[in-house]
Amino acid sequence: MNLIQDMDIDNKRVILRCDFNVPIKDNKILDDYKIRESLQTIKYIMDHNSSVIILSHLGKIKKEEDKLKNSLEIVAIRLQELLSSNVKFSKQTRSTALDELVNTLKPRDVLLLENTRFEDLPNKLESGCDAQLSSYWAELGDVFIMDAFGSSHRRHASTYGISKYLPTGIGFLIQKELKALNDYVLNPDHPFTIMMGGAKIDDKLDLMNKLLPKCDKMLLSGGLANTCLKVLGFNVGNSIVSDNSEILNKVKEMLVTYKDKISLPYDVIVTNTYDDTFIDQKGIEEVDSNEEIKDIGGKTIDEYKKIINNSKTIFVNGTCGIYEDIKFANGTKEILRILAESNANVIVGGGDGASAARNFGYANSFAYVSTGGGATLEYIINEKLAALEDIEETEVL
Ligand code: 3PG
Repeated sequence: MNLIQDMDIDNKRVILRCDFNVPIKDNKILDDYKIRESLQTIKYIMDHNSSVIILSHLGKIKKEEDKLKNSLEIVAIRLQELLSSNVKFSKQTRSTALDELVNTLKPRDVLLLENTRFEDLPNKLESGCDAQLSSYWAELGDVFIMDAFGSSHRRHASTYGISKYLPTGIGFLIQKELKALNDYVLNPDHPFTIMMGGAKIDDKLDLMNKLLPKCDKMLLSGGLANTCLKVLGFNVGNSIVSDNSEILNKVKEMLVTYKDKISLPYDVIVTNTYDDTFIDQKGIEEVDSNEEIKDIGGKTIDEYKKIINNSKTIFVNGTCGIYEDIKFANGTKEILRILAESNANVIVGGGDGASAARNFGYANSFAYVSTGGGATLEYIINEKLAALEDIEETEVL
């Protein structure tokens, strides 16, 4: 695999794929970590007297309305602040106006294109890795640098397709991510514990089944735990659960096969569907049918703490409760504090877990906080990433 530092990128137009898929609410970026983590590669290209044409996706674009809340224009503004240098923004992802704009770029100019997934309407050209779209984007530059670690498990036009048409290498962020995962997670010191939270078990079940043979303990919370509890016969009321019978059968199988590895909440924080002000901590066997589980309780925190303090490596994916709401943030916050105080190497996969670690001020206490969610999990399981496979000969040291 070519590394950016080994490539000739002097006086070129460099196409750079970043992962600027950042959380945005009310037109504000809630967490700019992914943008900040891209700066090293962007500045390196600028310092080599080259212009940078940046591509990224943001969210999923399935219908026309999705475009309204997923424009990258707000990211261009933040990037400009962080770089202290002008960032041009193209509202188009493909047009003669864009071609002309690209032709006016001078060395050190930075241009961010609108969300690559706008090309998914109507024909999924970006996600389907359309050859024409890939070659169009490739023609905008001389070299392609892939640095979107969070998207490197996806073979899309902007992550993979372009590499078929240009000399391609990986940027500093991907190098850093692969090194951290290789060092800590692929060859973990045991006991190795995986903490998984999140809403839908349907999306994560296959991953869990592949991760379970690799770890010594798996501590579950959120919707993943709720579904397991339901399968075990507990009443989880109106909590988020899977109701797909095929999934429920597979969960049952997993719980039997890995009964010694999987831990589930002993107590939980619940709300009541009929009363907005109701909030209570209950043993898992006490949950009523009109209640909804929103966080883990104190006994669970204590039990999980024992396992954490007995681990040498811990991989965290997801949060323990709906931490964005202060009423249900205690489990996530306490577990992060315990993790930060433990002697284990703690690696936080991207997404919610990483945002919570930063929000609560624990990110600097961990061995590594990744920018990738799905990509991190894919790498741990398969030890390779789809978008990087063809540029993967050089060892990342
Ligand atoms: C992420 O946030 O995990 C990456 O940006 C990938 O996003 P995606 O799952 O929408 O492809």
